[in-house]
Amino acid sequence: MQKVNDRVSCCLSRRPNFCRSLASTILERRRTPRLLSFSQVTSRQPPATNMALHTDNFITSKPYTGLQFHSASAPPRLAKLDMPAPTAGTVVVRPLYAIVVQYANQIFANGNPRGYKYPLPFVPGGTCVARVEAVPPDAARLTPGQLVFVEMTVRARDDADTKVLRGFSEGATAGTRRLLAADSPWRNGVWATLATAPLEGVHALDEEVLVSQLGYRIEELGALSQLVVPYGGLADIGVKAGETVLIAPATGTFGSGAVHIAAAMGARVIAMGRNDEALAKLSQISDRVSTVKISGDVEEDTKVLARFGPLDVFFDISPASAKNSSHFQAGIASLRTGGRVSLMGGLRGGVELPYSQITHKGLTIKGTFMNTAQQARDLIKLIERDILKIGSRSGMEARGKYRLEEWEEAFSAAAEKSGPGNAVYFTPNVE
Ligand SMILES: NC(=O)c1ccc[n+]([C@@H]2O[C@H](COP(=O)([O-])OP(=O)(O)OC[C@H]3O[C@@H](n4cnc5c(N)ncnc54)[C@H](OP(=O)(O)O)[C@@H]3O)[C@@H](O)[C@H]2O)c1
Repeated sequence: MQKVNDRVSCCLSRRPNFCRSLASTILERRRTPRLLSFSQVTSRQPPATNMALHTDNFITSKPYTGLQFHSASAPPRLAKLDMPAPTAGTVVVRPLYAIVVQYANQIFANGNPRGYKYPLPFVPGGTCVARVEAVPPDAARLTPGQLVFVEMTVRARDDADTKVLRGFSEGATAGTRRLLAADSPWRNGVWATLATAPLEGVHALDEEVLVSQLGYRIEELGALSQLVVPYGGLADIGVKAGETVLIAPATGTFGSGAVHIAAAMGARVIAMGRNDEALAKLSQISDRVSTVKISGDVEEDTKVLARFGPLDVFFDISPASAKNSSHFQAGIASLRTGGRVSLMGGLRGGVELPYSQITHKGLTIKGTFMNTAQQARDLIKLIERDILKIGSRSGMEARGKYRLEEWEEAFSAAAEKSGPGNAVYFTPNVE
């Protein structure tokens, strides 16, 4: 208090009115709860009429409902929680379509057989299509009411090595656990009527273009969740129009997304997998998509791939179970000199690499974890420009929409029906 008075008295002599007002603002801020947004304080408008900022209901906090788990062996509760007003760097969103991953019932129910580590109590949910509810004082473009895509990855702003898949896993280090700590804004996820999101992970969707002009239903934009991940890997290795890109395995959730994207980028795509039916479906995406069956034999796979000439890019998204699949060695062997490999899969432990081929051909191998914010924005542009078609017109369907209280049905539907192109959503807010 003394310091504030000192500062004021020193400048009072020059600009008395301004300084008195500044002093009262500083004192007011100190008395004001920490959660009051700066904009409200400095603009000195009555909070109840400050609609432009859309923070009128956020003077201290706003109640919301989250699907809160206290154990993976007990049913969740619809918990009444309090959302603080947005502070710098944090957006508050109203989730409309929040994806329920296929294996939700193996993480948050049935005793968590997948063994994911997350803090309790916990509101899961990582990615969604949402409306902005309130913007922080440092937002430059986002506005309340705007339709947005909310990413799942949360990164520590002071450490590139610390990142978590929010709403799913607390990671394995003290830093990642801190990102989901009880006092962290990222602790609770998007299976809720309100959710926080890092400003850099909230991407505006041009509703006029996507909904009014291109005719997408908002739920169809939920497909972004499955597309943004492979876009990260394809963008990281700079896939160009006209290149030949091998995607394997191509029949899974993210592999099939990669086929859609690479074809839209103008590449010739070789979709490789085990499942004939799924491969036949992928071949419908574009005339530029060809399919190849994984034979189980590296030489045989290499021989078949040779029909397409030396490949420019090999995008691998192998799950742990595909560790010894023949496509991996065949994919690398089929690359041209200067070819690029994107590794995005979940193989555990090491994998044998053809060392001399890599050196002789000068191959680039690039690992990618999720995607950057810029890549998410670039992907959205591809859709807004109608270069990448998503939703029903591309065989991507919402296979179930559930209220938070219908979590059991949602988990069952996700396990049965979601997969490549197909998704199940919680609809915490219905428009
Ligand atoms: N880098 C990242 O940021 C990132 C992000 C997300 C996911 N991932 C990882 O990506 C991997 C794929 O995820 P997803 O959700 O797309 O999985 P998914 O939907 O379960 O698809 C798995 C794919 O692998 C194929 N496959 C399974 N076992 C195989 C085997 N033994 N031999 C050959 N192919 C086999 C499946 O083929 P069938 O159709 O024949 O069964 C299917 O195409 C996971 O390991 C995940 O952890 C990485």
